[in-house]
Amino acid sequence: MHAFRSNPRWNGLRALVTGGAGFIGSHLADELLARGYHVIVLDDLSTGRLDNVAHVLQHPGFRLIRDSVSNSVTIDQLVTSCDVVFHLAAAVGVDLVIRDPVRVFETNIVGSHVLLAATARHHKKTLIASTSEVYGKSEKIPYHEEDDRVLGPTSNTRWSYAISKAVDEFLALAYHQQVGLPVVIFRLFNTIGPRQTGRYGMVVPRFVQQALRGEPLTVYGDGWQSRCFCDVDDVVRAIVGLAECDDAVGNVFNVGSTAEVTILELARKVLSLVDDRPSSLIDRIKLVPYDQAYAPGFEDTRRRVPDISRIKATIGWQPRICLDDTLHRVFAYYRQDRESRPAIVDPPTSR
Ligand SMILES: NC(=O)c1ccc[n+]([C@@H]2O[C@H](COP(=O)([O-])OP(=O)(O)OC[C@H]3O[C@@H](n4cnc5c(N)ncnc54)[C@H](O)[C@@H]3O)[C@@H](O)[C@H]2O)c1
Repeated sequence: MHAFRSNPRWNGLRALVTGGAGFIGSHLADELLARGYHVIVLDDLSTGRLDNVAHVLQHPGFRLIRDSVSNSVTIDQLVTSCDVVFHLAAAVGVDLVIRDPVRVFETNIVGSHVLLAATARHHKKTLIASTSEVYGKSEKIPYHEEDDRVLGPTSNTRWSYAISKAVDEFLALAYHQQVGLPVVIFRLFNTIGPRQTGRYGMVVPRFVQQALRGEPLTVYGDGWQSRCFCDVDDVVRAIVGLAECDDAVGNVFNVGSTAEVTILELARKVLSLVDDRPSSLIDRIKLVPYDQAYAPGFEDTRRRVPDISRIKATIGWQPRICLDDTLHRVFAYYRQDRESRPAIVDPPTSR
């Protein structure tokens, strides 16, 4: 973790982190505890893992509640007892979205409504996790927060996640406008780091686990699609910085790296960390058409690059950790106690 300048005004405050046993939420909980917050994590452990928070279970400032964000009674009680709420619980990952679109809407819309209605009732500062997916397949690069969004048809399940997160944004901004709820929305671009699982279609942990098992890396599509990968420690620094900044209230912020890499380059980088024979690289990458990897008619976004000028101007944030350093950390995570990590299951259609 990086050293942060602590804001004494926030020391001792109580934070509720929904989805706090997940990949990003658990790193956020760590950072909040390190800054002197009391942290309550609410998580149903559907995609999150107890393992992610095992090291803080005995911390006097930490509590884990296993429940759903859609449980309005629990949420109301927890919101009452907190000063600030970080809402990260969501159905996440392209595989999961395609396999279980109903859950996407139930969690990401119904759950978020329950949460926002409670924070509005009790007037608690609320940070909402959104996603670069809301930009859809827009070809205007880089993506700026005020850009138009370009989404595919409703017959294509893939877009349901983007729609659900956009509804959360509308709802949060509506509460801000109508009842003065202090909300901040952060749109995360591809975030990577230790504790991320490859089970729901996340490319970096999937590649790293495949490489460690000596299997070919499965690259979906032609591999020329590009993404910008940001280290989770950088992302957490942005989220906490936004939470502690009064000027951020009522706004939407892109949070991501601007260093673009194609998925083929990413695969080569991952392979070069386990095998330095260049001749072997090509045999170890397997291209899988999208319709086999996901579903017929699957549409991907070719490029996804954030414009981060707004967050830079507001809290002076920009990423500090380069992709190679993060990949080393992800390798270290999966190498340590490899046997106990769950194996990645490729989408059923790609077998
Ligand atoms: N990882 C990324 O690259 C990325 C990119 C864009 C946006 N995001 C957003 O960041 C947030 C965190 O994502 P993550 O990558 O850590 O995924 P994750 O799956 O590790 O975390 C989501 C957490 O929410 C929990 N959860 C799901 N449904 C719940 C429910 N009904 N009630 C309570 N808890 C529930 C899960 O168990 C899990 O712990 C999500 O809102 C996601 O949309 C992530």
